[in-house]
Amino acid sequence: MKLFSFITFILTIVQVTVGLPFVSRRVLQLSEDTTITVPEYEKLSLLRKGVRFIDITEHVELPFFNKRPENKVVPTYKYPALVSNDQIVQKLIDNIDKHSMYDNLAKFTSFYTRYYKSEYGYQSAQWLEQKIQNITSGLPEKVLTVERFSHNWKQYSIIVKIEGSETPDDIIVMGSHQDSMNLILPSVLAAPGADDDGSGTVTNLEALRLYVEYFLKKGQRPKNTVEFHFYSAEEAGLLGSLDVFTHYSTENKRVVAMLQQDMTGYVQDPKYEHVGLVTDYTTEALTNFVKLIIDAYLSIPYIETECGYACSDHGSATKNGFPAAFVIESEFSKTSKYIHTTMDTLDRLSFDHMAEHTKIVIGSIIELGDWKFAELKN
Ligand code: BES
Ligand code: ZN
Repeated sequence: MKLFSFITFILTIVQVTVGLPFVSRRVLQLSEDTTITVPEYEKLSLLRKGVRFIDITEHVELPFFNKRPENKVVPTYKYPALVSNDQIVQKLIDNIDKHSMYDNLAKFTSFYTRYYKSEYGYQSAQWLEQKIQNITSGLPEKVLTVERFSHNWKQYSIIVKIEGSETPDDIIVMGSHQDSMNLILPSVLAAPGADDDGSGTVTNLEALRLYVEYFLKKGQRPKNTVEFHFYSAEEAGLLGSLDVFTHYSTENKRVVAMLQQDMTGYVQDPKYEHVGLVTDYTTEALTNFVKLIIDAYLSIPYIETECGYACSDHGSATKNGFPAAFVIESEFSKTSKYIHTTMDTLDRLSFDHMAEHTKIVIGSIIELGDWKFAELKN
């Protein structure tokens, strides 16, 4: 009896100090047709066991996943079949600054962790927001805005919006996730998250810097709206991006293309350097457009690959019926094995490789920024 009271006492203390994980229940979608409901603390044990899920607790009303979303939910657009802005794209590419990318990643990985529930994760979001403010300063609000997108936890997502001059309702989104996580003990152990996904963050930051410097500040503007999203809480089951895209869907926003950058810096075999083009939980027509960009602007080829599950924030876009694509550092089997540990550090990454990903982002926003979207009717 004494032992029982002692255990109850300990559990009460744990609940009071650690809080909700012991009481709140989460709805997890495991596959195209399976959901389970578990106490929050069980999420971590599932992840450690390699069980993949997205956490749909706040969005249970959304339709189920579809591995080939274009067949059902996603409107199919006629994307450009040729590149037509090579001069301006080349100008931006020539000015990619790998030293600046290095400095940004060094700072971003110096936060002990960017775990979405931690104070550090809040501080890293503040640093990122300030960095974006510095990069974009001098542009009037009617051209560019930087906004916080708040969630039910402390670390916020950040949305940079470049308002389209002619068809602002057509939105192009460049995404990456800012949070990191140590899978063993997220609240206690360090998670530098250099590759996952500091690399995607600095890839997009550099593309934004160049776009501002050599395009927007020269008085040019896209006809469509171009947005950069820096999501919180991807590691906990796409929580941040699900909030963002569900909100967009509720507001009847029209995202015509979403391109995710998650893990852009690790090269297992430099002799066969390539990027991985993810073909599941993505939209074929948009992926084909990305192939065009890679062929036109990169010095390395792509290899088609599958994650096998909705492995990053592009899944939140397709789940809401928006077309999405995902380019990763290599084919899935050759991606970094150091992620989610203290060993996911910057010294293991190639900034040349990250720069190749930056070219994809630059090529995509320039080529899609003025593109007139025509919906393909079958
Ligand atoms: N960057 C990873 C996804 C990934 C991992 C891509 C390995 C390619 C190779 C992402 O941050 C991640 O960790 N995703 C989770 C799933 C998510 C829905 C919780 C994962 O893969 O376990
Ligand atoms: Zn991850």
